[in-house]
Amino acid sequence: MEKEIKILAIESSCDETAAAVVVNGRRVLSNVISSQIAIHTLYGGVVPEIASRKHIEKIDQVVTEALKQANLTLDEVDGIAVTYGPGLVGALLVGVAHAKALAFAAKKPLIGVHHIEGHISANYITNPDLKPPFGCLVVSGGHTHLVRVMDYGKYEVLGRTRDDAAGEAFDKVARAIGLGYPGGPKIDQVSKKGNPCAIEFPRSSVADNPYDFSFSGLKSAVLNYLNMCEMKQLPIVQEDVAASFQQAVVDVLLSRGVHAIKEFGFKDFAIAGGVASNSAIRKAFEEECEKLGVKFYRPEPILCTDNAAMIGAAGYFEYMAGVRSGWDLNAVPNLKLGER
Ligand code: KG4
Ligand code: ZN
Repeated sequence: MEKEIKILAIESSCDETAAAVVVNGRRVLSNVISSQIAIHTLYGGVVPEIASRKHIEKIDQVVTEALKQANLTLDEVDGIAVTYGPGLVGALLVGVAHAKALAFAAKKPLIGVHHIEGHISANYITNPDLKPPFGCLVVSGGHTHLVRVMDYGKYEVLGRTRDDAAGEAFDKVARAIGLGYPGGPKIDQVSKKGNPCAIEFPRSSVADNPYDFSFSGLKSAVLNYLNMCEMKQLPIVQEDVAASFQQAVVDVLLSRGVHAIKEFGFKDFAIAGGVASNSAIRKAFEEECEKLGVKFYRPEPILCTDNAAMIGAAGYFEYMAGVRSGWDLNAVPNLKLGER
């Protein structure tokens, strides 16, 4: 029987304080998430200083709860994985310092994990048969990356956003049409009642890289449309604006994904990150992949948004590859995927 490697994982890169225990990178024993959304909602977005302070208040409780739910003591885990970048520096530091203290005290290996590698690895939990190589579109509040996963822990970034991340565009447009923060899930809901063809918003491309993204033009187009309606005293149909904006995002993401599938001959394609829980994006990729004879994967919604189980999955594969971080592990807010 395969030896069971149990990884205790910690994630604190943005506004969720999270801890989890994952066995062999695929089986989740616990997945505890303490969300700060309620407090940041008051300010219309994440306030970094508040995020750090809330992480400090919660981290010990969250880790203790993750071990309790997994029915394990700290002594029984094989390693401690922690997100060390990219993200908000103060927020990351709380998780990194806590993981270092636990690993030092319990004499356990410490494994620093890249946040985007975590998002990609969430797919290993929901889809036990998924193995590299595959293509993956990572769409979250902070990132939009089209990635070629060559092996566990080995990545080539094919394209990325030149300006706003996809989730950022969802959040900003949601705020502009009065839906509040976080906007992604709200646009998803409201769009179900709207007409995606009501307003023709732009599908921007980037001249020198067919895999890069740009969402700031789309966001401006929505803001201009809203201003124009106000000036001409035309009614604004919130559902139609939301659905038409969402359709523009879907079209852009899908076109880049399909281009990569054809160019690199991917037999398997996955999506990941908070925006990957969007129902229209999931449906569009599912249908297109089926047409192309490509197997499509996505994490269950709770593993799309920030969580520590995904860090435990990524941490396991890094652990198996012999990766160990030193006591000098630090938070790296702009860490690049594939760098150590
Ligand atoms: O992965 P995540 O939790 O945090 C980052 O690493 O950034 O992603 C959060 C983002 C937010 O921008 C949120 O609005 C977006 O994911 N999001 C969605 C949906 N659920 C969350 N966007 C579109 N549709 C959704 N259903
Ligand atoms: Zn994330």
